[in-house]
Amino acid sequence: MSAGVQILPDAQALALAGAGADWLARRIEHKPDLTILVATGQTPMGMYAALAARVQAGTLDCSRVTAVQLDEYVGLEPGDPRSLSGWMERAFVVPLGLRNVVPLDDPATFTARLRDLGGVDVAILGLGPNGHLGFNEPPSGPDAPTREVTLTPESVASNRGYWDGLAVPTHAITAGMDVILAARETLLLVSGAHKRAILGAALDGPETPDVPASFLRRTALTVLADRDARP
Ligand code: F6R
Repeated sequence: MSAGVQILPDAQALALAGAGADWLARRIEHKPDLTILVATGQTPMGMYAALAARVQAGTLDCSRVTAVQLDEYVGLEPGDPRSLSGWMERAFVVPLGLRNVVPLDDPATFTARLRDLGGVDVAILGLGPNGHLGFNEPPSGPDAPTREVTLTPESVASNRGYWDGLAVPTHAITAGMDVILAARETLLLVSGAHKRAILGAALDGPETPDVPASFLRRTALTVLADRDARP
């Protein structure tokens, strides 16, 4: 298993939230203008709430942090409740008091803005049930660029849990594997027994486009997993 894997003894989501918040808060304290690639999805929500509580308490200042959107569905009207940028605003940008956001609207504009910013310092990632990162669906190699993709049936099924009966869009834009793997550090959060096999494949199997997360071992990677997800 690669270095930097921390299996939390406590299977509760609370442990993941606290450890993730500690990890990110240390980096923001060290570099207040940190640029963060921000996953939505269920797994990091506790961590974001824990960070927001620190901001509210006045023990953490995120006002100079830049949030970079990791992925977005394609074809939604403005204001659609399923927008991932809306989710990132509600869960991360507003509660942490951020003023700077790089939206993922158009791949060329996104790539140019990231280049101007000097790239991503930290990528906060969840693990797809099929090994995807963002919406880099398998097969995605390490050079896969920021682009529009068709979601796999597995991703549509896992995203169904987010939207309470609303249809899951079938297409998305994702920050590329090239953007994720160029981040100066990556934090992968993994929770639940249903992620155990794919986490094992990502950490201990061959590096392969069939498991995009397997390429994270090329990065300065920290994995926070709860006991249920331990391979
Ligand atoms: C969401 C995203 C996805 C999720 C992944 C895990 O912005 O990038 O890759 O991180 O599908 O989702 P959860 O955390 O809901 O299990």
